[in-house]
Amino acid sequence: MNKVRDDYYRAKDREKYNMLERHSLLPDPSLKQATFETFVPQCSEEIANKELALDCVRRIRGGDAFNVIFQGIQGTGKSHLAHSMLKELNETTGFKTSSLFVSIEDMLRKIKGSFSDKNSKYTEDYLVNLLSKPDHLVLDDLGAETGAIDSDKSATDFVQRILYAITTYRQGKVTILTTNLSGKSLFKVYDQKLVSRLLNRPKYIVFKEAEDKRISNIPF
Ligand SMILES: Nc1ncnc2c1ncn2[C@@H]1O[C@H](COP(=O)(O)OP(=O)(O)OP(=O)(O)O)[C@@H](O)[C@H]1O
Ligand SMILES: [Mg+2]
Repeated sequence: MNKVRDDYYRAKDREKYNMLERHSLLPDPSLKQATFETFVPQCSEEIANKELALDCVRRIRGGDAFNVIFQGIQGTGKSHLAHSMLKELNETTGFKTSSLFVSIEDMLRKIKGSFSDKNSKYTEDYLVNLLSKPDHLVLDDLGAETGAIDSDKSATDFVQRILYAITTYRQGKVTILTTNLSGKSLFKVYDQKLVSRLLNRPKYIVFKEAEDKRISNIPF
């Protein structure tokens, strides 16, 4: 009887550890390799932000639960560091806690796809439920789905409803958000109640000086 119970708990632990690898929706498959080891800081801000992210990991591992917001222009390493945090947490506490990385744009595309594809498992209920569960969740690239960076365009009711449901279920857990949007733009694009949940006393990690790593090697 004890063996059955032990096997059950071992399987449950493995399920937690495997969640990051099995269920994440990555915007770019190369992000799988994004760890603290592969993040090479090139300026003082990047050194400081890597330290801040490592410090958040230490606090979360110690039992603290709070949100983290990475903000800055494109290509500065926000998604890289957010993924590094999950990798580190998963490698050190992965059999006790679960982690998941989700590109908001990919998630919304999958939900929309399920409207016309009745065989798709990626329904709104499935994804809201999936994103509600993990102890640590990265919601990647908030704002990109609206194409509204620094414009006044507001998010659709559909997008707000889904993000609102997820953030409501996730209160008390760790949600790590990355975005190009400024605080002002967040309030223009999203409902106040949603922004209030997202900005619930988070730790901010902001890139103001770092350069876009994607375009740093243009030879002309
Ligand atoms: N300090 C760094 N060391 C090594 N690679 C880096 C570093 N910063 C960024 N990169 C790499 O550059 C690419 C862009 O970084 P990333 O995707 O994290 O940018 P981002 O800030 O999330 O941009 P966006 O706002 O467009 O989503 C990735 O391939 C990432 O691994
Ligand atoms: Mg990103």
